[in-house]
Amino acid sequence: MTEIPEHLLKRSKAARVQAEGGAAPAENAAAVATPSGTSVAGPETTPAVAARAAAPAVPAGPPPPKPDLPVVAAAKARKKIPFWAFATLSTLPLWAFMYVRALTPATEKVSGPLGVGATVFTGCSSCHGSAGEGGVGYQFSQGEVLKTFPRIEDQLRWVYSGSDAYAAAGVQIYGDPKRPGGAHITKVKGVMPQQGAKYGGALTELQILAVVCHERYTLGGADPTGTYLKEYDNWCAPDAPAWLALQDGSATFDNVDTKVPGAIKVGTVPVAGSSAGA
Ligand code: HEC
Repeated sequence: MTEIPEHLLKRSKAARVQAEGGAAPAENAAAVATPSGTSVAGPETTPAVAARAAAPAVPAGPPPPKPDLPVVAAAKARKKIPFWAFATLSTLPLWAFMYVRALTPATEKVSGPLGVGATVFTGCSSCHGSAGEGGVGYQFSQGEVLKTFPRIEDQLRWVYSGSDAYAAAGVQIYGDPKRPGGAHITKVKGVMPQQGAKYGGALTELQILAVVCHERYTLGGADPTGTYLKEYDNWCAPDAPAWLALQDGSATFDNVDTKVPGAIKVGTVPVAGSSAGA
């Protein structure tokens, strides 16, 4: 048989004693709950209150629970999250948002040959310097690249093919043979890696045009509104016919010259460089 716990017995006993003392709690509740909102403490409530007061002071509940061990009491009293951590914790969602944003690749803001070219050039900067100041490879800045390649077509062909193809083809001078300071002869400074697909390079012809435009205009200092106005409009402007033709596939390096008035053939095989101005 189940034993009724001591404290429950005491509680029911207390309730009984209170009930015998009159309907005090019920009446009291009625007084408070009067619709008028005012407490009508009429004379009829007085005996009830008196009865309640007279009721013996029976313990109303179970005996107080055994006090906790000090460590347990301390753990219970302690706030679960320290107040100073709220400042940090409340910014967690913002932090998560920023983290995800940081992982998302930035969208290309500048389009057209110069925008794309700046991105492609990160694969060239280890040898030529991020500002084209030179290193293992030649300098492009301060007009140096324009001295080697007065014509953009020769530079496109050279970057596509690289040093080995020129050396193998027996074409020594890839740029202007009358270059101020002396013609650049292949494999004198080192080996320029081939970039075009025909030689196992990773760049498309469109990317090669873009990076060459970057080298000439952004790094080399060619003036797109002066001496190089026509070249810029034909090859490196966002709406340049050569750029658009390579982009939509209506031309390749083998025939892109037909899209540009006065252009010479680019092609994908080594050809000696030329001196003619832009
Ligand atoms: C591993 C180093 C290296 C990398 C990477 C490299 N180059 Fe070169 N580059 C050279 C060297 C060395 C030469 C000189 C080649 C020679 O003497 O035959 C050169 C020459 C050139 C020239 C001729 C410059 C002149 O005035 O004679 C151009 C233009 C050029 N590189 C463009 C590029 C481009 C565009 C890229 C990236 C797509 C690139 N290079 C990546 C090493 C490099």
